Amino acid sequence: EPREDSRRENLLTLNRRVLLSFRNQLGKNARARQYLESRLIPGQLIDEFGLGYADGREYSLLELFEENHDDLLELGLIASGEDKRLYDRFRQRVMFPIWDAAGGVVGFAGRDLSGKSPAKYMNSPESGLFEKKKLLYAYHIAKASIRKKRRAIVVEGYFDVIRAHQQGLTETVAVMGTSLSTYHARLLGQQTDVYVVFDGDEAGLRAALRTSELLTQSDLALRVVFLPDGHDPDTYFQRHRVEQFEELLSQARDVGEFRIDRLLESSSGDVTQLSQAVRELREFINRIPDSIRRQAYANYLRERTQIDPFGSGQSPSGRSRMRP
Ligand code: GTP
Ligand code: MN
Ligand code: MN
Ligand code: MN
Ligand code: MN
Repeated sequence: EPREDSRRENLLTLNRRVLLSFRNQLGKNARARQYLESRLIPGQLIDEFGLGYADGREYSLLELFEENHDDLLELGLIASGEDKRLYDRFRQRVMFPIWDAAGGVVGFAGRDLSGKSPAKYMNSPESGLFEKKKLLYAYHIAKASIRKKRRAIVVEGYFDVIRAHQQGLTETVAVMGTSLSTYHARLLGQQTDVYVVFDGDEAGLRAALRTSELLTQSDLALRVVFLPDGHDPDTYFQRHRVEQFEELLSQARDVGEFRIDRLLESSSGDVTQLSQAVRELREFINRIPDSIRRQAYANYLRERTQIDPFGSGQSPSGRSRMRP
């Protein structure tokens, strides 16, 4: 619909103007620039990724964009408090613009610098323009490399993406605090080897298990890597060379096998636990759309446990096997 299209264009244009004002504020704020320096982000990367700063004042955007308060509200850049008073929603945060695949600025992520906010990161609120489950951070910068290398590296954080690009790994993108979705799978393309690199922490492990759910909804080849010593890609590359990272990628685990191993490891106490785990994994395997992969995972589970998860004579689809 043309009305809706022009509405969208208006909001994208306003986001772009807000981005310029965040860039401007970064130029004027020594403390924010020092922060980025302390995080070893050089000026060239600040520019390439459009980093900016939202200062601590409550009325920056409100004053700069007096004509656009309704739109700013819709974009979640300002909010309305008790007594209906309006104020800037992002304050004392390094601002990362979030682009869609076509390079439109659809939203922002802000990294807290105050140390006082309970939320280290804050995003634009979900809207028709900004849907986290459909967005991959830096995809529009990375997509040419992804196509060319037929490989995508998916990391957890914004700084991780920037650091990876600095290392020449320009096929790197990040999820926006969600799991990989079928939308993401479509963006990355079926011909792409996808390496999901998780922080070496508990949150990373949980995220990997959630990611394995995508196998039940797409045919994507997904491999997982956990960084050693509690690293995330940002800190990893401050200590390790890109060759060592490639070595980790070459040892990456298939995410389905990873899920099977994890569940078996945590259920190896006795026969009851083991049976429960095999039942759960059988249910997981049954939801995988591709029948060949389903059988491959069933075989893997069988080899690991010496238990036929589908009972004798049953194939993973639940149908009886053809008998000669
Ligand atoms: P730094 O401390 O700046 O290096 O952040 P990080 O990217 O290493 O963060 P962390 O490993 O804690 O979390 C990974 C990603 O999860 C972040 O990049 C964000 O996308 C998301 N995330 C973490 N904390 C929050 C939060 O408080 N709110 C939201 N919305 N997202 C978060
Ligand atoms: Mn983490
Ligand atoms: Mn090490
Ligand atoms: Mn991290
Ligand atoms: Mn980090």
